[in-house]
Amino acid sequence: MSGTLYVIGTGPGGPQQMTPEALDAVSKSTDFLGYGPYLDRLSLRADQNRIASDNREELDRAQAAIVRAVSGTNVCVVSGGDPGVFAMAAAVCEAIDNGPDEWRAIDVVIVPGVTAMLAVAARIGAPLGHDFCAISLSDNLKPWDVITRRLKLVAEAGLVIALYNPISKARPWQLGEAFDILRNVLPAETPVIFGRAAGRPDERMLVMPLGQADAQKADMATCVIIGSPETRVIPRPGKSDLVYTPRFISGEKR
Ligand SMILES: C[S@@+](CC[C@H](N)C(=O)[O-])C[C@H]1O[C@@H](n2cnc3c(N)ncnc32)[C@H](O)[C@@H]1O
Repeated sequence: MSGTLYVIGTGPGGPQQMTPEALDAVSKSTDFLGYGPYLDRLSLRADQNRIASDNREELDRAQAAIVRAVSGTNVCVVSGGDPGVFAMAAAVCEAIDNGPDEWRAIDVVIVPGVTAMLAVAARIGAPLGHDFCAISLSDNLKPWDVITRRLKLVAEAGLVIALYNPISKARPWQLGEAFDILRNVLPAETPVIFGRAAGRPDERMLVMPLGQADAQKADMATCVIIGSPETRVIPRPGKSDLVYTPRFISGEKR
């Protein structure tokens, strides 16, 4: 009989942001596959096996997890944040879609988690209070011209944009170009939030207008949220600004 394949997210980093359902999946699993820093967030028992692999080996990891589940082990595939947002749940589905028929028979339990943009948004106010989208700025798995076209279209449509994977050593210039594209569409005063390491001890939130947005303020642990023309900043004496997008837009019924 096959085991169950759990696919969980640890949340953005802080232990309080990992859901009880994810913790329950951890307690029921024997083998844990994931990127080392994500596995480090779990407190595993002596009888639980940690199988760490490089962050770029997602499909291999998904296949290895499925093989273990087919052989009868309860397996847990671990992502950061939510496992369905630019993470392992899609890799597991891709592996099953392209794998042998017997892989379709295993029990797969995908456990939702707190994704980075929600943690960043909650720290700063309510920038995702109206329509929004999430875009990965990584051109490892899609062409750069697809990304630039999407950025332009969603900005023209008035959506708030949450950018994941904004910058890395191998992708140093893409975020700067993304800001240039957005400056051609959006007002210079549109708030841009650099939400770094939300929920972790080294968390840092920074807000600046799009006209001055500096890509160097982001790193791999940053989720960048670009407001819509409706997004507002509320300055507060002695407290950090609140950034929010109202639930209505001009001309809409309230
Ligand atoms: C490969 S994606 C994984 C996203 C993850 N599955 C999620 O739901 O948050 C990695 C990107 O998520 C964002 N990210 C992850 N954790 C974060 C955190 N604690 N604070 C801000 N952004 C974070 C960054 O943009 C990072 O480059």
